[in-house]
Order: sequence, then structure tokens, then C-alpha cells
Amino acid sequence: MRAPKVKSVSLFSAKVKWLSLFAFLVAGGAARADNPYREAARNLLERKCGDCHRADSPRAQEKALAVFTLNEPDWSRRMTATQLKDALDRIAGGDASKDEVAAFTAFVKAEKARRAAAR
Ligand code: HEC
Repeated sequence: MRAPKVKSVSLFSAKVKWLSLFAFLVAGGAARADNPYREAARNLLERKCGDCHRADSPRAQEKALAVFTLNEPDWSRRMTATQLKDALDRIAGGDASKDEVAAFTAFVKAEKARRAAAR
């Protein structure tokens, strides 16, 4: 009666090994996918640009949502480098505070680094 027990224990530890490898890979992917300024940038754009760039806004525009949709988790996913720069120029040229411009600059910089690392 002992042998099956030992077998099931080693099967269990093999499963644990695979699970921890899987968890490691998932965690690595999540770390790469993370932009620490994402929520700050989202909050700022929701106030300034949410009228047309939020799917649940009554004034949402199809073409605007195709560029970025603020209420998607990874909302800047479809934006090109040029569109990110364009958005930064619009924020910097608008009525945003110095701190808001700095936060959005940091977001765009981190987004570029994240994309370079994902390649
Ligand atoms: C009144 C509606 C409206 C508001 C407000 C708005 N946008 Fe847009 N935006 C659009 C539309 C519509 C498009 C798509 C234009 C097209 O495809 O011709 C667009 C496209 C864009 C693009 C892509 C441009 C390109 O040529 O690729 C960027 C970047 C952008 N918007 C940034 C912003 C930012 C940043 C704000 C807030 C500061 C903002 N938008 C506010 C309607 C809006």
C-alpha cells in the first residue's frame, strides 16, 4: 500500500514544478505588459478626451474608438508610436497642468520601452 502513495507524491511534485514554471512565465508576461503610468494617463485622457474616446460615452465616435478606447484595460494597445506622440503633443499643448504633462510624458516613454522589450 506504500508504493502508490509514493508514486502519487512524485506525480504531485512534478505537477507543482510545471505549475510554478507556468506561474513564472505568466508573471514575466504580466511584468512586461505593465506600464506604471497607465492608470494616471487613462484618468487624464478620460477627462480631456473621453467624450469621443470612451465606448460608453453618448458622443463616442467609431473612428476615435478605433484609435484608442479609454475603457479597455490595455487602452493604448492599438496606438502607433506616431499616435502616442500626437496624443502627447495634444496634452502638452492643451490646458493640462505641468504634473499632468509630466505623467503623460512618462506614460508614453514607458509604453515605448515596453514595446521595445516585447519585440
Ligand atoms: C470631439 C471628439 C474627439 C475628442 C474630444 C478627441 N478626439 Fe481624438 N479622435 C477623434 C476622431 C473622430 C478620431 C479619428 C480621426 C480619423 O480617423 O480621421 C480621433 C483620432 C485621434 C488620434 C489619432 C490621429 C491619427 O491621425 O492617427 C489621436 C492620437 C487622438 N485622437 C488623440 C486625442 C486626444 C489626446 C484627445 C484629448 C486631448 C482627443 N483625441 C480628443 C475624435 C476626438
